Amino acid sequence: MPELNSASLPSRSVMPGATGVLSAYRRLIAQGKIEADTAQGHAAEALDKLAQALQARHETREGFFSRLSKRRPAPIKGLYLVGEVGRGKTMLMDLFCREVAVTKKRRIHFHAFMQEVLRALHKGQGRSERHEDPVRELAQKVHEQNDLLCFDEFQINDMSDAVLVLRLLDMVMALGTVVVATSNTAPPDLMKNQAQNRATMRPYLEAFGAHMQVLTLEAARDYRRGRELDAQTWLVPDSEENSAHLRQKFETETQGSAEPDFVSIGSRRVPVPFCKGDVAWFTFEALCGDARGPADYLAIVARFRTIFIDRIPALVPDQYDKARRFINLIDVMYENHTNLFASAAAQPEALYQTGENATAFEAPPHVLRKCVRATGSAEGRPPAQR
Ligand SMILES: Nc1ncnc2c1ncn2[C@@H]1O[C@H](COP(=O)(O)OP(=O)(O)OP(=O)(O)O)[C@@H](O)[C@H]1O
Ligand SMILES: [Mg+2]
Repeated sequence: MPELNSASLPSRSVMPGATGVLSAYRRLIAQGKIEADTAQGHAAEALDKLAQALQARHETREGFFSRLSKRRPAPIKGLYLVGEVGRGKTMLMDLFCREVAVTKKRRIHFHAFMQEVLRALHKGQGRSERHEDPVRELAQKVHEQNDLLCFDEFQINDMSDAVLVLRLLDMVMALGTVVVATSNTAPPDLMKNQAQNRATMRPYLEAFGAHMQVLTLEAARDYRRGRELDAQTWLVPDSEENSAHLRQKFETETQGSAEPDFVSIGSRRVPVPFCKGDVAWFTFEALCGDARGPADYLAIVARFRTIFIDRIPALVPDQYDKARRFINLIDVMYENHTNLFASAAAQPEALYQTGENATAFEAPPHVLRKCVRATGSAEGRPPAQR
């Protein structure tokens, strides 16, 4: 399972009080990049403490006598940051992951981690070397590759996946890997919508919760919201200038540190030109110009909360395939309350040009309304529906 540590970040040495999570948070405020928020300050303190504990453990483990004794280090509880949308959970976790002086660390969207786990278990089926429990074997590998795992958007939808991943994480954490997670749902409520499975799930959720300190981030407001209310979300026309403007918005959302990545769908990989956390950038061509289908869109939308689409063209009837894909994508985004920022040749309702063969493609009016709704997403995604 080589991917599991491929995104490990380089280690940095931290002088207590000189750098660290709390000082990095305060620096952002001092530089005017973010507003001071008391609740976020408390969360930054908790993350800072955790960073110091991890660092101290790392130093002890590297010590001569400790290496001789091979004693397992004292357990450190992870941190589960829960709160409503836009409260700064992801921002704080990213800050933590960047600052903490741990070499074997990995930050990954929880959905992507689940996919890796399922793939690894599927691949390993029937060839367990020691005829052991395959989940236990995988847990050992994950632990060896990661001292720290940071999961963005911890969420559980499917009962069988949930049992697997919670068992795995319980073992990984019992071995000493520390988990930090952001979520809109507290651990006991993770299966709230599935009354019939709650009793079965309870022990797994309790075991998971026992490794974590749950911290509710009651930040003053949804910081994303204010920005979106001000922002123009649909830039017309699809000119160089608007493309650059859109890019600038994207840079602001991603603090200028987005990178190429991919979304896995089974054994396939859909490239994402740039993304950071739950924000992604695509060109229209990359999303709808190629042979993409509903499964791709579902996976993309499951991973990303905010999607930027550059250069949506006016669609003529002989571009039926692209138009159909675009409608499909908008449908999926609408269902999931995904935020959309776009540069486009025309306003949504004027995207579909009429021509000689106009009847060959008639955009259903409800889809166009959705398109407008999706772009007018200032109200964001209600937490209950995530
Ligand atoms: N104190 C702050 N001042 C200004 N902007 C902030 C502050 N905290 C967070 N932000 C910004 O608000 C946006 C939302 O923050 P973030 O993505 O971390 O929220 P979240 O709690 O993870 O939300 P979600 O539950 O939707 O994932 C980000 O662009 C972030 O940089
Ligand atoms: Mg988040």
